[in-house]
Amino acid sequence: MSKPSLMHADTIRRSRYAPHALATTLTLALALSGCGQKPEEPAAEPAVAAAAPKVEAAICQASSSWISNPNPPPEIAAAETFCDFYQFSWQWFLAQTSPANGGSERVFEQNRLMNPNVKSGQCSLPALLGRASAAKMLAARDDKPLGLEDTQADGNAMYDQNGNLLYYNMWYSQAMCESTQQGFASGTFEIKVAWKVLPAPDPTYYSMQATLPGGTAPVTLGMVGFHLANWTQNHPEMIWATFEHKTNAPLCDGSSPLPASGWSFASNDAAACLTANPQPTSGPPNAACDSFKFNTPDKFAAPPPPATNTPDNICRQFAHGNQPGESVNGNNNASNLLAIQQLNDQLVGANGMLTQLPDSNPMAIWKNYEMIGALWTKGGASSGNAPVPNAGGPADPTSPQRGSLELANMSMETFQQGATSFIPNCFGCHNFNTATPLNVSHICDNLFSVDSTGKNCVIPSTGENAAAAPAAPATAEKK
Ligand code: HEC
Repeated sequence: MSKPSLMHADTIRRSRYAPHALATTLTLALALSGCGQKPEEPAAEPAVAAAAPKVEAAICQASSSWISNPNPPPEIAAAETFCDFYQFSWQWFLAQTSPANGGSERVFEQNRLMNPNVKSGQCSLPALLGRASAAKMLAARDDKPLGLEDTQADGNAMYDQNGNLLYYNMWYSQAMCESTQQGFASGTFEIKVAWKVLPAPDPTYYSMQATLPGGTAPVTLGMVGFHLANWTQNHPEMIWATFEHKTNAPLCDGSSPLPASGWSFASNDAAACLTANPQPTSGPPNAACDSFKFNTPDKFAAPPPPATNTPDNICRQFAHGNQPGESVNGNNNASNLLAIQQLNDQLVGANGMLTQLPDSNPMAIWKNYEMIGALWTKGGASSGNAPVPNAGGPADPTSPQRGSLELANMSMETFQQGATSFIPNCFGCHNFNTATPLNVSHICDNLFSVDSTGKNCVIPSTGENAAAAPAAPATAEKK
């Protein structure tokens, strides 16, 4: 099927990932756990309290064992509070970013690497593993007509404040290769990482060496963004979580203090304009800053875009991808934001567990990153239309989407934010339909195959069953 990476946003949305009507009514009759609120219900009164509850009881708790002894759960805790989804997401992130087998690589680098040059059948090829392979996949961009790594997910190149393009890698779990036409196999997850070129070593970034296309000298790449999509039995739509380096981009509303080293994706002058012209609410920046052309991609006649160009100015419309105020579909935005903030605070805040680690600890690097948010659907329903206003129409009150409804990573979906975009969150492109569950992944066709319409991911019957088939006719007669 055609890669949507260089199509216009509305084409991406309509071609393969068209939203569809919702027909699923779901019943959740679950008790609230102590640590959070269910995505669609108001706070419950505590059950008959034997003693005055401690303040901590209401806090979404992080655990130091997530760092020292990661063991991420295979499923969201049964109560399905916002806290449960964010504890799950942080645990998976920390598990994947912890050292692999005591070596210098991290667990995520030991997953299978997506080769953007191979259009189908990657699951039946030998696995590409390790950091050295990742660096090669970046270098391969010249070989591809659609220039996967040098464009945004939305088809727009983006240049950091040094004028360099961003680069990408994607990984998937070995378990994903055991998937069937009915759905992904247990243990399936997908990771997409964005890198920027570090002109000088910067100890605040998780980094790797790579040789860029057209270049001969190795450069250092610093991680700026980390997407993590986890399949679970109860959430076949996947839980779409995203993490960013803390100094990527300021909030458009002018409330972000300038980091000592500046922002990666906004100039100091542009950021100062936001600060001087604060907005009363989330959304686009003040018109007084129009001259800085915030969130406006450069247009190029044909791919690939140049490796260097004028830096872009980027600002984040929604803090933590959270829609403020009331959501039309009953998503409790305030509780969503609180759970994210509480976990970030305990892990990467001023006195956070990661923040307090000595620099010699390999996990200390992650204090420079934070969880932006996550997105899922109620009861694993088809994702349907967005519950937030977007270029395709008003917010849909029947939308089953839950979590950070305006979720975008500034290093990846940079130019697809808010009301002027057709695709205001992950489900805009990773549309989930229970009838065609594999299509939620954009790399499924690379790992397996595609049907004759070019639109649906197909798992050919060349898996374990078919592999055994050649021997069968010789020895056994079918009746
Ligand atoms: C504008 C469309 C668009 C949006 C919005 C979008 N993605 Fe993607 N995503 C893509 C495309 C296209 C790919 C395939 C690789 C590529 O071309 O960059 C992809 C790939 C991925 C992958 C690798 C595995 C896969 O499923 O293909 C992950 C993980 C991912 N995206 C996570 C997210 C998360 C999390 C969000 C929301 C914060 C998100 N994406 C929003 C278009 C989008």
